[in-house]
Amino acid sequence: MANVTVIGGQWGDEGKGKIVDWLASRADLVVRFQGGHNAGHTLVIDGQTYKLSLLPSGIVRGTLSVIGNGVVLDPWALKAEVGKLAAQGVAVTPETLRIADNCPLILPIHRDLDALREDASGQGKIGTTRRGIGPAYEDKVGRRAIRVCDLAHLGGLGPQLDRLCAHHDALRAGFGEPPVDRARLEAELGEIAEFVLQFAGPVWKTLNEARQQGRRILFEGAQGVLLDVDHGTYPFVTSSNTIAGTAAGGTGLGPSAAGFVLGIVKAYTTRVGSGPFPTELDDAIGQRLGERGHEFGTVTGRKRRCGWFDAVLVRQSMAVSGVTGIALTKLDVLDGLDEIRICTGYTLGAQTLDHFPSHPGDQAAVEPIYETMRGWSESTAGARSWAQLPAQAIKYIRRIEELIACPVALVSTSPEREDTILVRDPFAG
Ligand code: GDP
Ligand code: IMO
Ligand code: MG
Repeated sequence: MANVTVIGGQWGDEGKGKIVDWLASRADLVVRFQGGHNAGHTLVIDGQTYKLSLLPSGIVRGTLSVIGNGVVLDPWALKAEVGKLAAQGVAVTPETLRIADNCPLILPIHRDLDALREDASGQGKIGTTRRGIGPAYEDKVGRRAIRVCDLAHLGGLGPQLDRLCAHHDALRAGFGEPPVDRARLEAELGEIAEFVLQFAGPVWKTLNEARQQGRRILFEGAQGVLLDVDHGTYPFVTSSNTIAGTAAGGTGLGPSAAGFVLGIVKAYTTRVGSGPFPTELDDAIGQRLGERGHEFGTVTGRKRRCGWFDAVLVRQSMAVSGVTGIALTKLDVLDGLDEIRICTGYTLGAQTLDHFPSHPGDQAAVEPIYETMRGWSESTAGARSWAQLPAQAIKYIRRIEELIACPVALVSTSPEREDTILVRDPFAG
């Protein structure tokens, strides 16, 4: 079991970037398999902060980084991110980055449509990142997408563009928008093609060969299980499957490639965007968690909603994603609280539930049942060994393990790469 698949166990922003960067020293390849530049993964290395949206978090260490076919790729966002990293001294070259040539593109028309729909939705707004993620995935399954490989055959795109533009023109007309400026779109694709194509190839082949050679693959999930289009808080979700099972289909490897599934779980709960959130705190404690945890979106700068740890949701996430062990992050943010609450079940009217119901009305109506634990006054910030944690913090971790039915493999105690406690090496299986 030499590979590791990292996924978010809540509503995203659990600290996946930090953990992937930390694990990348033990990996030969780091691979993104779903989502796009809606992700915002933060790495802090010796005081320097790197924010990655589309590029795999291994890129900063120079580990071979791969974007699989399950990702939706905005070529202009890619170019901007590569430029931003170059300014920070990180070179991204065809030797360090490979992109699947069957990856669908996010085009400016997808970004337009995302924004038009959000603006027209009023109360029903999803609160998307407005990056065009949903519309791009729709065109992929609708068989209208322009893909990376098409950039090498722009002259032959006519019939594909006919289909794509006919679809978008009808939608745009509904919003009172002019038809797609097709000449401009073709010109923009022509300008960006060479940049993208230098990284493009049959990634499935690279990955299968790497596997045969016994190289260690680290799969980097984006978003979190509660944003999964099937298992999340539908319709307030993203448009991809964020569970570990996607690592195979989103790259061109078989299901056994996933290896150790590491769920990244924050020691409390946050969410950005609309949708149900049973343990949300609108009080001073919620405010405190947001301030101490610097809970502002990496991509959109939006304030993240904060609340207590919800063991029911995380237990469900661990189950549907087949998680082997978790990395518990941001434990330090809870330092200094007199009491800490954990949600262990819900009431829905007269009913008691041990799981999160599927219907959005029920999801919005459940009331959490809490268990209260004593907090700790000591600092856990920067702890690098179990011995540096206060007894009460260890009790909190042990209770979480018990409630979510999953063991802790790593604990993170600050944004810095090295402030990490290793309990069980995921690469050792
Ligand atoms: P991701 O989307 O899952 O990669 O997470 P983000 O990078 O969007 O958000 C996590 C934030 O928490 C970032 O600002 C990280 O630098 C920070 N972070 C990660 N782990 C820890 C931790 O253990 N303690 C604290 N205080 N911050 C952390
Ligand atoms: P990382 O990888 C947190 C949320 C958006 C919105 C919903 C749909 O950094 O954890 P989309 O633009 O994907 O159609 O938006 O999903 N969302 C995220 N929330 N972290 C993310 O990524 C997210 N990516 C999307 O806020 O609620
Ligand atoms: Mg994030």
